[in-house]
Amino acid sequence: MTRKLQPGKLIAATHNKGKVVELKDLFEPLGFQVLSGLELDLDEPEETEFTFEGNALIKARTAAQATGAPALSDDSGLEVTALGGMPGVHTAIWAGEPRDFYKAMEKVERELIAIGAKDRSARFVSCLAVAWPDGHEVTFRGEVQGNLTWPPRGEMGFGYDPVFVPFGFDVTFAELEPAQKHAMSHRAVAFEKLKAALL
Ligand code: IMP
Repeated sequence: MTRKLQPGKLIAATHNKGKVVELKDLFEPLGFQVLSGLELDLDEPEETEFTFEGNALIKARTAAQATGAPALSDDSGLEVTALGGMPGVHTAIWAGEPRDFYKAMEKVERELIAIGAKDRSARFVSCLAVAWPDGHEVTFRGEVQGNLTWPPRGEMGFGYDPVFVPFGFDVTFAELEPAQKHAMSHRAVAFEKLKAALL
């Protein structure tokens, strides 16, 4: 039988403030006390895998081992069709250090122009991983399809939201109210799968 996640302490294994907000919004109404890697000052492990699933597991596993509590992580990114799925698992790195997402969005746009791409489709992918301190672990994947727009529009959300227009909409993720984005995002799709399996 699939192991269930019992309401109580849950570590959000991320230092990304945007993700922490989204994960708290999803889990706190269900009775979880979500503590983030940021609040607990956890070390961030190196993401050495080549898949979202692999990197999500590294983060969740490390946090579960460090805290002795079940840990949840998200590894996510933007896959641009005309760029062969890049930046993909390298999505965060494209923003450089310290993170500058305007620069990262500009880099995607520059590369699309450089290859004269007509296809501006892309998808956000989220892989949620849950790891327990005893080594048990599971992952769930969600995706949302859309088109990239330029210049960036909107002040809400985070990361690449200002250039992503989900299919069926004419506004970017950064122009949507957070509740609207949370109802349809890649993370929400992965979360629904997690909920069906673990809660
Ligand atoms: P990670 O911490 O390696 O998973 O990095 C994921 C990257 O994808 C970050 O740079 C985020 O900004 C970007 N990303 C993930 N989810 C979203 C989203 O919902 N909106 C905008 N950018 C996102």
